[in-house]
Amino acid sequence: MGHQHDHDTHERNHLHHHDHGDRDWSAMAPRLEAEAELFSPLYARAAAWLSKRQPHPGLVVDAGSGPGVVACVLAEAFPGARVVAADGSGPLLERARARAERLGVADRFSTVEGDLPDALGDLDYPVDLFWASRSLHHLADQRAALAAFAERLAPGGTLALLEGGLPARYLPRDIGIGRPGLQARIGAVEAELFTAMRAELPGAVAETEDWPGLLTSVGLHGATSRTFLLDLPAPLSDEARAFVVAMFEHYRENLGEHLDASDLATVEQLLDPDDEASLHHRPDVFVLAAHTIHVAEAEFGNR
Ligand SMILES: C[S@@+](CC[C@H](N)C(=O)[O-])C[C@H]1O[C@@H](n2cnc3c(N)ncnc32)[C@H](O)[C@@H]1O
Repeated sequence: MGHQHDHDTHERNHLHHHDHGDRDWSAMAPRLEAEAELFSPLYARAAAWLSKRQPHPGLVVDAGSGPGVVACVLAEAFPGARVVAADGSGPLLERARARAERLGVADRFSTVEGDLPDALGDLDYPVDLFWASRSLHHLADQRAALAAFAERLAPGGTLALLEGGLPARYLPRDIGIGRPGLQARIGAVEAELFTAMRAELPGAVAETEDWPGLLTSVGLHGATSRTFLLDLPAPLSDEARAFVVAMFEHYRENLGEHLDASDLATVEQLLDPDDEASLHHRPDVFVLAAHTIHVAEAEFGNR
């Protein structure tokens, strides 16, 4: 995968809906939501970093917001901002609105449903802070989409793109069962499936993943990147452990046929609640993830 796409592998064998990208995103809602909740401290640190570039945004847009966990983190980090969550999945946006309600930010939170980047045409005002995490890589023409995002920015507005980083790790290399290096091999399968996912997007345009270069190529300036860690050492909380279990269930369902028999048996054992060596019981499970955020600004004064 080369990057962090292990959180985001591609259900090629489970294409039920002719939704955007042919994936049933709403079926992924519980995992997307649990994952983003676990990662919220990372997003809050990222928002604090962004607030140095954009201290008082009037309008924040989260493009490809999914269930809106990050959009709500942004709403809390920028109490003076209106936040718009845009996504192709109505059910995920419904969750986003419910979350905003629960958190007491609904009065300045709204959603736009539609295919990106075209759905951005529904925005009435220029955007001061435009956030897109792990969504751009689902769009067929990433450069054109970035150009469309940049087009919506207010003068001096900031575009923040979360793409890449490192594959997350949940277990040591040698876990005492199976062949050492399981997660590295899972990562290799994910890399292949990620490439296939992109190739299968209708109208896919090949693009080198030089994110700062792409931000510059669409007319933004000052492009820079910073990586944020989620570092949850063992022993894990129940929530974090449940997340790791969900990730391995996802591997079993979606990657299983690409793993060899011995790795698949190890994954099965890791998921067996009656086995002391499973993820449900073992003491050495941790979460170490690194997400990279690339930012750049629109010019002042040329509009
Ligand atoms: C991996 S999720 C990321 C969710 C959230 N940004 C996060 O970081 O947790 C990708 C999101 O992009 C949305 N998406 C994918 N392709 C899209 C498209 N063509 N138009 C609109 N939304 C799209 C999906 O519905 C999904 O919510």
